[in-house]
Amino acid sequence: MNWIIIYGSHYGTTRKYALKLAEMTNIPAISFESVKDINSYNNIIYFGGIYAGGILGMSKTFKRLKNLSDKKLIIVTVGLSNPEEKENIKNIMDNIERQLSGEIIARAKIFHLRGGIDYNELGFIHRNMMRLLYNSVKNLPDEKKSAEDRAVIETYNQKVDFIDFSGLKDIIAEIRD
Ligand SMILES: Cc1cc2nc3c(=O)[nH]c(=O)nc-3n(C[C@H](O)[C@H](O)[C@H](O)COP(=O)(O)O)c2cc1C
Repeated sequence: MNWIIIYGSHYGTTRKYALKLAEMTNIPAISFESVKDINSYNNIIYFGGIYAGGILGMSKTFKRLKNLSDKKLIIVTVGLSNPEEKENIKNIMDNIERQLSGEIIARAKIFHLRGGIDYNELGFIHRNMMRLLYNSVKNLPDEKKSAEDRAVIETYNQKVDFIDFSGLKDIIAEIRD
């Protein structure tokens, strides 16, 4: 059964997780922009950074899949908000439901990991998006702030790294299942 790890990453945190998993499992890893014949793989592990709710490259990649019946799919999201908070997982899952067909979601095992951000590295558009988001939530009363809003406020303009490779062990268990 042939496996592939595909990742969508702007600033490298998602890529780090994908490459670490590749090293631990000997499964090749490739960025979503470089995948050639996705239909030649039976088992796909997709890692995507979260950008304004969208999982980078995910729907574009999965749209190219022709026959799902023999496929095992694993999706791993990498975001700034803490996936140990139920509210954040619900948000991510609501967004995934808007980006993938029900058939793919039913077939996929989905995991959530935490990445990081370095405001010094952000490009112009991303920096502005974060500024607008921060300005829209910073003065909300505490009870109206979502867990995601709090994560944006707490990390604004900083460099934070929440990468934790121990989160890969559940994914490895799923691969070996
Ligand atoms: C413009 C922008 C929008 C983002 N939107 C979200 C979001 O909706 N939810 C989230 O959890 N993290 C969000 N993040 C944080 C990224 O998901 C996080 O930095 C992730 O580690 C990026 O992955 P990468 O380094 O592989 O590109 C956003 C970051 C930027 C710059």
